[in-house]
Amino acid sequence: MTKCDRVLGPSAGHPVGSAGERSADATMKSVTTSTTTQGNTDYRDSGLVFPPGFTFGSATAAYQVEGAFDEDGRGPSIWDTFSKTPGKVSNGDTGDVACDHYHRWESDLDLMKELGLGAYRFSIAWPRIQPDGPSTGARTGWVNQRGIDFYSRLVDGLLERGIRPVATLYHWDLPQVLEDAGGWPVRATADAFEEYAAIMGGALGDRVHTWTTLNEPWCSAYLGYGQGGHAPGRHEPDAALAAVHHLNLAHGRAVHALRATSTGDPDYSITLNFHVLRGVGDGADEAIRRIDGLANRVFTQPLLRGEYPADVVEDTASVTDWSFVREGDLAVIRQSIDVLGVNYYSTATVRLWDGASPMQHNDGHKAAGGGTAWPGSDRVVEFVEQPGPYTAMGWNIAPEGLEELLVGLAAEYPEQPLMVTENGAAFDDAVADDGSVPDPERLDYLRRHFTAAHRALQRGVDLRGYFVWSLLDNFEWGYGYAKRFGIVRVDFDTLERTVKDSGRWYGELARTGVIPG
Ligand code: FCB
Repeated sequence: MTKCDRVLGPSAGHPVGSAGERSADATMKSVTTSTTTQGNTDYRDSGLVFPPGFTFGSATAAYQVEGAFDEDGRGPSIWDTFSKTPGKVSNGDTGDVACDHYHRWESDLDLMKELGLGAYRFSIAWPRIQPDGPSTGARTGWVNQRGIDFYSRLVDGLLERGIRPVATLYHWDLPQVLEDAGGWPVRATADAFEEYAAIMGGALGDRVHTWTTLNEPWCSAYLGYGQGGHAPGRHEPDAALAAVHHLNLAHGRAVHALRATSTGDPDYSITLNFHVLRGVGDGADEAIRRIDGLANRVFTQPLLRGEYPADVVEDTASVTDWSFVREGDLAVIRQSIDVLGVNYYSTATVRLWDGASPMQHNDGHKAAGGGTAWPGSDRVVEFVEQPGPYTAMGWNIAPEGLEELLVGLAAEYPEQPLMVTENGAAFDDAVADDGSVPDPERLDYLRRHFTAAHRALQRGVDLRGYFVWSLLDNFEWGYGYAKRFGIVRVDFDTLERTVKDSGRWYGELARTGVIPG
């Protein structure tokens, strides 16, 4: 038995939603079609009633909305550095001001209350809490009380308005000082995260309703350290896989630390961005297996089963020997969580590359020179263009993918309650003469995806709630302010907020629990 066998565990698992028939045709066919609801195919239902207690919320993330980048002791994060590096973000945009949520949080909370939202998923900026990083050796990390006070006021403000605080510890804004020490590819960053989690558990764990450790560790690891389109912009496939493991480890350590320090009775969760895959061409199964492993199972299996998928370890053997996985890590990573957060926007279609024709890279992520988000499979699998319609991100609109995903996860992990923690769409909104913001495409997108979620509920999925991305138009990472996801428009000159038609529609859904007509 090799070290890897012992530490990494046995199972190859199944692709998300893999119950369906697999196509090996040259024509595009869904590999999972047979799991979706038959009948009304356009998912444009209204009048569907959600169960009592279903959570309707909206989501943001610190770097995308807060601004106030150097106020009250905040230190720099990797996104400050990255966005200020020429050529990294469209139009040279940065999060310096963003939506100015740091100063306008009270009126933003009022807006949520007016809409009737039941929960707010926000993230805490680690560099506001530990601007200089964690304790090292003799040095005890300095905790910035002013940073804690901001989130404490925010949580109190939510509770006063009857809105549940759902707090994410890490939505990609690593303190720069930790990146300078190696970032997520080094184990010490997981140690630091545990310390940070304990601080936050002690500070807010009496009031936060749900703790989410990480948002989309796939993006942090592969886009940050492999493909390079996200901060810190490195192109090191082996580092990306080390980052995967240290993020998984950080989650386990953080849940442990939060449990030890939270005096209330919060729920615990992590949010993953699942890749719902279609396959085309000969060997579609193999293409799907590889990408499902790197995108989905390399997180779900350690987090929920305490093992790394053996096939992923094999597929990546030329990139890393996985020696960063130490004895005992998997037991730490596997924590029981109250809800698994599911982010879903669109599907992806993969094919085994023929080795000769120009490789296609339509994986939905902004091209970044040189790197790959798919270590070990980057010269094997290509991402082909998918049929529309598309959002302004170029992402295909596929509500059936959400239904498949939820049903597939419930089949694979029947005991695990689920929560849609992000779903929404970017479109190029225009302000009408009367000042309103009619956004029929976003409204239609939301209607279709809420219909998909409702169908999953009807099929027995334990889905607890749904957070629309996003409350506000905001800093959309590598695209800057060019892509608008908000149900509330932000004028980035005046910072004025205007509820879009989709926001009014969503408010009615949140207040009534019924998909409006
Ligand atoms: C997700 C991110 C979120 C936002 C949406 C559009 O991957 O978690 O911050 O950028 O995509």
